Amino acid sequence: RLRVLSGIQPTADSFHLGNYLGAVRQWVRLQDTHDTFYMVVDLHAITVEQDPKVLRERTRASAAQLLALGVDPDRSALFVQSQVPEHAQLCWVLQCLTGFGEASRMTQFKDKATKQGTDRASVGLFTYPILQAADILVYQANAVPVGEDQRQHLELSRNLAQRFNHRFGKTFVVPEPYIVADTAKIFDLQDPESKMSKSASSQNGLIELLDDPKRSAKKIRSAVTDTGREIVFDPEHKAGVSNLLTIYSALAGRSTAELEAAYSDKGYGDLKKDLAEVLVQFVTPFQERVRSYLDDVAELDKVLARGAERARAVASETLSLVYDRIGFLPAA
Ligand code: TYM
Repeated sequence: RLRVLSGIQPTADSFHLGNYLGAVRQWVRLQDTHDTFYMVVDLHAITVEQDPKVLRERTRASAAQLLALGVDPDRSALFVQSQVPEHAQLCWVLQCLTGFGEASRMTQFKDKATKQGTDRASVGLFTYPILQAADILVYQANAVPVGEDQRQHLELSRNLAQRFNHRFGKTFVVPEPYIVADTAKIFDLQDPESKMSKSASSQNGLIELLDDPKRSAKKIRSAVTDTGREIVFDPEHKAGVSNLLTIYSALAGRSTAELEAAYSDKGYGDLKKDLAEVLVQFVTPFQERVRSYLDDVAELDKVLARGAERARAVASETLSLVYDRIGFLPAA
């Protein structure tokens, strides 16, 4: 079986619809066909300031959400990044193979650093994509299911794998991005030209899976559309309506063509009302499952510890090989 790895940051109280449709939905499906490793990336989270208590809560809440969305800890290694020290160890090696200019060209760093001010931005934020490369390469992952916004980071991971292989002999699998075009970029409901993101200036366009379903339904009903009347999938000219159709299609398992036909004699209001209902039907039982996982934190921590153990078995093997190739002395 080919191997898959992906991760998600515990930096919000809830996952949003973009996280689920762009990434986690694929994680769940890939369990049927691949050997899967999924993690909550707490090391990445501390590249910006975190309150320790909140970080711990959000890390558990992230794991609970992954379980509630269908990550199966019997089939996948589900773990927390900081419990597998090999990520940080391999990261150091890869940092020494990355050019300063190369790291400086990462657009997510540039965006975040500009927002925070370069003096306040941490060096960890700068090396963030190299840690991500270590995450992927340490498992010899063949495929990495992510949303469109991670493409440049994956390109860096590929370059670093190839560079290491070229310099020290074939060591790493060169990973492929696994980006499903239909849902690779879910847009903000109020600003359908921008991706849905927790850091948007207004929260009105953001659907958080753990938010009050009534509030989410209301956000959908007040989504920005256009002055036309026709319900057609045309992302270029009808960004708002097309985004709603993408979300509807993914959640209800109906193609956008099927939805166009079903709504051919209906208005935007009908579409929004129905989609709001589909969303409520999805998040209500999801929230119940999350609560039940969080009711037994001891059990949740055990599941994660088991996942970390499985992950370490693979990661430590890669790291030993890497250390040997580089010329480090064996420890024993
Ligand atoms: P993060 O935590 O920002 O997001 C988790 C996943 O959600 C996807 N995503 C979206 N997809 C579609 N539309 C959107 N609006 C949208 N917003 C977010 C992201 O693309 C991502 O797949 N750097 C990563 C975490 C990471 C990682 C890794 C991923 C760390 N190490 C190794 C893969 C492999 C991140 O910040 O994701």
